[in-house]
Amino acid sequence: SIAPMLTKLQRDCATPLPVLRHVADAMADDMRAGLAVDGGSDLKMILSYVDSLPTGNEKGLFYALDLGGTNFRVLRVQLGGKDERVIATEFDQVSIPQDLMFGTTEDLFDFIASGLAKFAQNEGGKFHLAQGRMREIGFTFSFPVKQTSIDAGILIKWTKGFAVSGTAGKDVVACLNEAMERQGLNMRVSALVNDTVGTLAGARYWDDDVMVAVILGTGTNACYVERVDAIPKLQGLKSSSGRTIVNTEWGAFSNGLPLTEYDREMDAESINPGEQIFEKTISGMYLGEIVRRVLVKMAEAGALFGECVPEKLSTPFMLGTPHISAIQQDNSKDLQAVGSILYDVAGVNSDLSARKIVVEVCDTLAKRGGRLAGAGIVGILQKMEENSEGVMSRKRTIVAMDGGLYEHYPQYRRYLQDAVTELLGSELSKNVVIEHSKDGSGIGAALLAATNSKYEHEF
Ligand code: BG6
Ligand code: GLC
Repeated sequence: SIAPMLTKLQRDCATPLPVLRHVADAMADDMRAGLAVDGGSDLKMILSYVDSLPTGNEKGLFYALDLGGTNFRVLRVQLGGKDERVIATEFDQVSIPQDLMFGTTEDLFDFIASGLAKFAQNEGGKFHLAQGRMREIGFTFSFPVKQTSIDAGILIKWTKGFAVSGTAGKDVVACLNEAMERQGLNMRVSALVNDTVGTLAGARYWDDDVMVAVILGTGTNACYVERVDAIPKLQGLKSSSGRTIVNTEWGAFSNGLPLTEYDREMDAESINPGEQIFEKTISGMYLGEIVRRVLVKMAEAGALFGECVPEKLSTPFMLGTPHISAIQQDNSKDLQAVGSILYDVAGVNSDLSARKIVVEVCDTLAKRGGRLAGAGIVGILQKMEENSEGVMSRKRTIVAMDGGLYEHYPQYRRYLQDAVTELLGSELSKNVVIEHSKDGSGIGAALLAATNSKYEHEF
């Protein structure tokens, strides 16, 4: 029957304090190993080539592209310098057609470049390009990229369900430039950044205490400000500020996670088995799918929904994380909304006791995910504490956070915060503020294009 299955799931997913501590410590260890040598750990610890963060003095018209979340976004921003800051912004967004995620590099980049071309056509109003300049772009590309400079980088591999052929091993800025040429579009990429790096830069523009940025959306990742002398693999390379942003690519972390049979099966059937295990355990693309797998098993072995196993429920990725969040927002006595979601999405008729179990299953996985994400953040803070400026004893350290999962799943958010507080203790955790920085990565990328402008010396 079902009760023992639920108990086993809860046991397998449990994240008591010692488990969280282990994850935080292992995260810090893996970070250190990844900074020592390339390939030194699961964490790639990618150098962003962002050595100076926005100051507020940036001026002019800049564009940003944002590829890698649920939506593809284009954005322009008019920056007015110290007093005026952001004079105006405009953006456009579309979801990425499914077939492009499995298509060719040319098709994907043509799609991006043509979106940009259309958007750039309608520039006017408050937007103004200084004479004699090209339009410059900050390109947020949210996948693991081996940066070779601030404006070039090679895609290591796709993540988050993308399987575009021919891109891995190529410079994605060159791919974009070629597509822009095909479109007859004359713009220049001045900064190539990960979404975490864009988010950090965007949040830092408003507040100097921002030291870490985390994305919890379709995928998950974190970046932070590191001291150059704490990065052995840099081998003496200098940065003017003595600091640089490191993109951890923590989605690939896998050390000591509490995993279940459902996680293992989902991983084995995924397009990237054995990879991105932390991401598969805590991020938006996968949480709903894990829940679905549990429910199928409960329907088969425990008759959760009566005699039959509903066919729709057997379709992979049928149940999304937005659904399981919606399930958890139902506070009614008869769990009416839970019943409708199960019926609409999975073709399932449910009684109250089945609905209660479904809520429990969702909660179990949201809890595991949120708490592990919190432990990951504390791992980063620990690493910063020992090698740089005593971030935990600073008065205030801001973790800029973005992504649909964090934004739209209040229970997940609460579990994350609880874990941070448990690990740091209530006093210390007051110094660490997790701040939602919505869509900051777009502006952040535009700001980094400004910081790294080809024209920067002309002001
Ligand atoms: C957006 C950022 O707000 O969040 C993107 O601008 C980021 O850069 C995205 O990739 C992640 O969220 P999701 O939920 O769309 O994957
Ligand atoms: C995936 C990508 C990473 C990105 C994250 C969040 O983990 O590999 O680069 O930052 O998703 O979008």
